Formats: sequence, structure tokens, C-alpha cells
Amino acid sequence: MYVCLCKAVSDKAIKQHIANGACTMRELKAGLGVGSQCGKCVCQASAILHNELVKQ
Ligand code: FES
Repeated sequence: MYVCLCKAVSDKAIKQHIANGACTMRELKAGLGVGSQCGKCVCQASAILHNELVKQ
């Protein structure tokens, strides 16, 4: 499922990036571009980030 439509970033891609060491929204933005355009995806992306970090 796409989280960020502007940059075509899926939840899978976000989870993969977190598994590879990203632990902040800034890193997700720098690595994937998520949230770098309209910003509508930031809430959902940060919810995924928090969920994934809790699992680690
Ligand atoms: Fe992610 Fe627009 S949907 S920046």
C-alpha cells in the first residue's frame, strides 16, 4: 500500500528503510523522499515509524 503518493513510497519500503537503520522521520525523508512534497503522508509515515521502532 502506498503511504506517500507524491513520491510513490509504500509501507513496505518504509519498513525496509527502518529495518536498515532509519529511526527518525528526517532519515525517512532523506532516504525515500517521504513527506518531502505535500506532507499529507507524514502522519501515517510517522505512525509506521513508531510501530516499527517499538518492535525493535
Ligand atoms: Fe507524501 Fe505528498 S503524499 S509528500
